[in-house]
Amino acid sequence: MQGTARSIAVFGAGYIGLVTAACFAHLGHRVVVRDIQPERIRLLNAGDVPIYEPGLGDLLADNKERLSYTLDAAEAVHDAEVAYICVDTPPTASGDADLSRVWAVVEALKDADHLNAVVVKSTVPVGTGARIRAALDKAGLGHVGYASNPEFTAEGRAVTDFLHPDRIVIGTSDHATAALLAELHAGIDGPVQHMDVASAEMVKLASNALLATKITFINEIATLCEATGADVTRVADAVGMDHRLGRHFLNAGLGYGGSCFPKDSRALRAMASNTGYSFQLLNAVIEVNDLQPRRAVQRLKTELGTLAQRRVALLGMTFKPGTDDMREAPSTVLACRLLAEGALLTCWDPMARPADAAPWNAVERRPTVVEALAGADAAIVVTEWPQLHDVDWEQARSAMRNPLLFDGRNMFDPHALARAGYTCMSVGRAT
Ligand code: UGA
Repeated sequence: MQGTARSIAVFGAGYIGLVTAACFAHLGHRVVVRDIQPERIRLLNAGDVPIYEPGLGDLLADNKERLSYTLDAAEAVHDAEVAYICVDTPPTASGDADLSRVWAVVEALKDADHLNAVVVKSTVPVGTGARIRAALDKAGLGHVGYASNPEFTAEGRAVTDFLHPDRIVIGTSDHATAALLAELHAGIDGPVQHMDVASAEMVKLASNALLATKITFINEIATLCEATGADVTRVADAVGMDHRLGRHFLNAGLGYGGSCFPKDSRALRAMASNTGYSFQLLNAVIEVNDLQPRRAVQRLKTELGTLAQRRVALLGMTFKPGTDDMREAPSTVLACRLLAEGALLTCWDPMARPADAAPWNAVERRPTVVEALAGADAAIVVTEWPQLHDVDWEQARSAMRNPLLFDGRNMFDPHALARAGYTCMSVGRAT
């Protein structure tokens, strides 16, 4: 390995914690992962991975001699030189981040003997690091360094993003901690950006908010394309060729979802408002994104005349392909709105975890696309699963009562679908 092998305690065995642990073990460090959920630790100790993330299982297995898992915080920090805080920071009712899990970890660090640095990877409001620093000082841990090291890994490609990042952000005011973290990341192919703690915390929130803004911007352009006859895909392709703008995150659709953009944009808005500033652009982004799946339901209702007793097939449930994650998925809003209009719903998804809470307990999940389409008056492509390209759409049409396909992710050529006998709707395109 490049650099010295270190002992790291990773708190939180979720998407971020496990990917961080697996990648640091891969780089040659010894890692103890601590989580408060007994089932998670049991699975990990049995060699299973509690979440779906491509490449993660192999990485954990290949480096298992350098990885261990525990429920016991004291055991995790016993030999640790670095403590990585990777717990979740879910939103409170006001949109603020709930930091109780972060603070519980900080509390547990007070008995650590060998600790050189505490590092926060969890997404937190700017200023959290300064408060943690003060808490460590008060607990007699003034000699322990503190750093913010936000993550920019997307679900479905988190291992690749971690090992080949666009940048590694290290926010700390002390040189020894900056050097230690740079050394921990030795072997990772990406430029390191050193800065103060508050700026590092802001980089994370600003990055996600700007990506959410880009998506929302193209969704609004798509609405105007529908009204004017322009094609948003062609517009995005040509706009994105300007290297100052870039093509990424200019795919119009049913709105952004997931565990990050919705939560982080609300947290940044709440943080702004706590400072007395109204972040007007972000307010609009959040409002437009909330409306995006509702607009789709309204358009479908207009097309069908009514949704009452109409059978609608939802193709895809997860917030994006390549994950089993349903957190803040636009599909849930679609299902709720369609059910409220009296529609009868079927759905298909290759990976979504079974959901038995509302609205999914009122939706009939079927094992294949064609079975989900059976008897449907309309189908909505909600998640752009590549498996949808393997469907024989000409044949599938005969399963439907009315061949209306609303391509909510613009994944198909509408002319090809029209030739296969479908009435097509999409987002920001003429058909
Ligand atoms: C996002 C960021 O991309 C990561 O950089 C960040 O580290 C992560 O949040 C996080 O904060 O932990 P993720 O939520 O996994 O990652 O998913 P994305 O691939 O960014 O997609 C988010 C949502 O935006 C999805 O619902 C997706 O369908 C939607 N999207 C994305 C669009 O509607 N259009 C696009 O052009 C791109």
